[in-house]
Amino acid sequence: MAKTRTTAFFCSACGYESAKWMGQCPSCRQWNTFVEEPVGRKESPSGRRQAPAGKPVLLSEVDASEGERFPTGFPELDRVLGGGIVAGSLVLVGGDPGIGKSTLLLQVCRNLAADGRKVLYISGEESLRQIKLRAARVGEIRGDLRFLCETCLDSVQEQIQREQPDVVIIDSIQTMYREEVTSAPGSVSQVRESTSLLMQIAKGSGVTVFIVGHVTKEGVVAGPRVLEHMVDTVLYFEGDRHASYRILRGVKNRFGSTNEIGVFEMGEHGLEEVENPSEFMLEGRPQGASGAVVACAMEGTRPILLEVQALAAQSNLGIPRRTAAGTDYNRVSLLMAVLERRCRYEMSRYDAYVNIAGGMKMNEPALDLAIVLALVSSLKDRPLDEKTVVFGEVGLSGEVRSVPMAEQRVSEALKLGFEACILPQINLDKMKKTDPGIRLLGVRTVQDAIALL
Ligand code: TYD
Ligand code: MG
Repeated sequence: MAKTRTTAFFCSACGYESAKWMGQCPSCRQWNTFVEEPVGRKESPSGRRQAPAGKPVLLSEVDASEGERFPTGFPELDRVLGGGIVAGSLVLVGGDPGIGKSTLLLQVCRNLAADGRKVLYISGEESLRQIKLRAARVGEIRGDLRFLCETCLDSVQEQIQREQPDVVIIDSIQTMYREEVTSAPGSVSQVRESTSLLMQIAKGSGVTVFIVGHVTKEGVVAGPRVLEHMVDTVLYFEGDRHASYRILRGVKNRFGSTNEIGVFEMGEHGLEEVENPSEFMLEGRPQGASGAVVACAMEGTRPILLEVQALAAQSNLGIPRRTAAGTDYNRVSLLMAVLERRCRYEMSRYDAYVNIAGGMKMNEPALDLAIVLALVSSLKDRPLDEKTVVFGEVGLSGEVRSVPMAEQRVSEALKLGFEACILPQINLDKMKKTDPGIRLLGVRTVQDAIALL
């Protein structure tokens, strides 16, 4: 008789299953991600699959009208979701522990309940008392919002069938387990099986399910990467531990675009929406300081103004120090090489530190020109006019290349009271010839831009 396997190896990054341990995952190519877990489940009573259940249909017969959508009470979140919650969808909210996932979802539940929806919040992490303390901070709860502390997903399923809620929150998927899977909660197979059960519940009964997933270092606990393939929508809640703002980013969305973000601020009474992120990012900006340039980056369809700071200091080291916080290090090195070769600045004699103020992370090429100007401004100790916004991509020969959505960027600058904008000449040529209400300075090369300092 064939020996039945009792354990298998799973890649903790992508969920790939293998009979033996491997150093590198053949599926996602990550190293050292395999963990051993018991496999085996109890025989399903139905046994082997009978005749196929569905039959192929023509697309023309499919009803394409979008399912019901309802608002969360947070326009920022609605936008990231593509216009509200889709009934019967499965949404994963990922993020570091302590970033505010439970708070956000509790506030969403509160809004939904106040709108007359039936909501069930299942917590596997916190006691009812802890939830009550948090709820006291976010404000009074009205309507049908019920809480349940439970980690066994099979009984959660029963509860959902009995209660028939409109929305269910599972906080968090790493604490849930299914009886038929032998490995521990949080392991790759538990997370995968739990999610597939939740998917059946969502699709079968039209309940919208929000799943909270912790992002942890590789190792025992499966990161939500395994889940990303299974759910409809993946949102990441990110932010700097030291800054109060939080960004909700859509990375996958079967019901809308993915490059939208929502900006929130964590305060005394839970999360609050930040309607004007540019204003928020530029708060407390130093006036007339050299090495600081306001840039305009796009997050999805949203322009955000940010302050790019650079500090160039004479180096005493053979290899000068370079750091880039909030932006791509290699990009900064490349821009410094451009300055060295094309503009004859002896960058190799300087240590250089580039930072996006406020802890925001941004890798858009449109920031290039602002980084270059900030470096030169610091080097020459000559500030750029503080009412000027800069954007443009810099190429290897020192040319300034066009960037998408220039008009939106200009109008954001105008909205925040800036008086001038340094932008690629190519973008300026393409713009409609109406009075923009702001001085537009088109540049073709990095040298042109530096001349404006
Ligand atoms: P939490 O939602 O528990 O994080 P997660 O579920 O992602 O692990 O939020 C944690 C942090 O938010 C915690 O450090 C306390 C802080 N917080 C506030 O600053 N103000 C508030 O009103 C609330 C409810 C939490
Ligand atoms: Mg939590």
